[in-house]
Order: sequence, then C-alpha cells, then structure tokens
Amino acid sequence: MDNADLPGKPSKNQIPSFDDIPEAQRETIEPQPKPPAKRTRSIAGLVAMGVAIGAGVVYRLWQPVPLGTSNSSPAASPAASSASPKPETLLKHYPYAEAPSAELEPISADGGIRLRRSAAAAYNQMSEAALAEGVVLMPLSGFRSHTDQQQVFFEVKAERSQTLQQRAGVSAPPGYSEHHTGYAIDIGDGNTPATNLSSSFDQTAAFQWLEANAVRFNFEISFPKNNPQGVTYEPWHWRFVGDRQSLETFYKARGK
Ligand code: DAL
Ligand code: ZN
Repeated sequence: MDNADLPGKPSKNQIPSFDDIPEAQRETIEPQPKPPAKRTRSIAGLVAMGVAIGAGVVYRLWQPVPLGTSNSSPAASPAASSASPKPETLLKHYPYAEAPSAELEPISADGGIRLRRSAAAAYNQMSEAALAEGVVLMPLSGFRSHTDQQQVFFEVKAERSQTLQQRAGVSAPPGYSEHHTGYAIDIGDGNTPATNLSSSFDQTAAFQWLEANAVRFNFEISFPKNNPQGVTYEPWHWRFVGDRQSLETFYKARGK
C-alpha cells in the first residue's frame, strides 16, 4: 500500500523530515531540562555518585556493540580470524567431496560421461550453441569417483615411472580432483581427436570457441598457463561456476 493512501501520512514523493513524525512516535527522546543539581558533598551524595557510575558501567557492558565499530572489525574478532584458515591441500590440489550419484546426469550419447545436473544443463546448451557455429565439442571425461581417481593417479604414475610431484603436476591425487564434484569436464574437438588431452588442443576451433564463449554458459578454464596451483596447462579441462554451490565448491575454501 502506498503511503499516499494513508490519511495524515506523507506521499511517496515527499521525504519526511523529523518534524513530520508525530512527537509520540519519535524514537529519539529529546533531553529534558535537568533540575538544578545540589552541590552538597555529603557522604550520601558520594554513595549516590558511586551507584550511578556502577550503573553506567553495567549499562555499557549490557549494550550490544554496534556494527562498524573497532570492536567488531575482523582483525579484532577471533571468530572472524579463524573463519579463513589456511586451505588444506595435498601436492597443491584441493580436497573435493564426491557428487551424490542422484545429482548426476549423462551428457554423452552412451551415458558414460556424467555431470551434476546444473552443469549438465549448461554444458548441453553450450554444446548446442557451438554446434550451431560448426564447432563440435566432444566430452572426454566428467564426474570421476575417488576410486576412479585412485587408478588414474597411481596406476598411470607407475606405468610412467613418475615421482609423486611429477604425477601431481598433471593429475590430482584421489580425493583431490575437481572431477569428483561433477562440475568439471574435459572437452575435446570432435573434428581433431588427435589433440585430445594435449596442449595442442588450444590450437583447435573448439578451444578458440570455448575461450570466446564458455563464460556465457558459466564455464571457466581451471588450469590456465602459469596457474597458481602449479598444475600443467590443461586447455581441455573446464569447470562450471554458475550457481552458488559450484561457486562455493571452487572458491570458498581458498579464501577468494
Ligand atoms: N588433471 C586434473 C588436475 C585432475 O586430475 O583432476
Ligand atoms: Zn580434467
């Protein structure tokens, strides 16, 4: 209901001044003139003064601390300073929980590659938009369980005689892959499969289309050149950051 509909109330276009508010409704109580103070320095007077000071201290402690004062600044608050702990990492990778299987939807023709529902919907739209411009996005890997990643990390490490540090440069340890979240996807170019999972993927039409358009569908590259995690450049690995949960999954734990 508009204020103009109420008798005695200011219309929408009027800014009420203090005097527009009836005295009985004002929140600020104007100071009343005090009766002249007695200057008798009797014992009773000193006792009364002590009681008054004590009451003032109690009142000050009881009052809530207003926002924006130095007492409520993040630096002064132990709760705030402990709210941003150093992120837990393993070989520079962050821990991720597995997406619940009920949340996963197939995005490949054979149903073998799945993403979390919100990411799958956005990926399908992105893939259709690319196809409309003659670019074929090919999903290569989506959700991976911790057990899947166990094989990807340790079996390939052994096959390639890699140290832990060498392996972690190209693969996350189990429990630490973005693929666990159901928001990450490896994408190839359907017209140049020889570039799959290779840095040369960045020479393809698919990559160039993604670089220009993926942001419209809330996808971003996870491991660009010189990324702070020190993971090898992966032009094929993209993650969905288009809803609160995905955003918090990738950014909250890192204090960004
Ligand atoms: N290749 C990326 C780092 C992964 O394994 O999750
Ligand atoms: Zn990947």
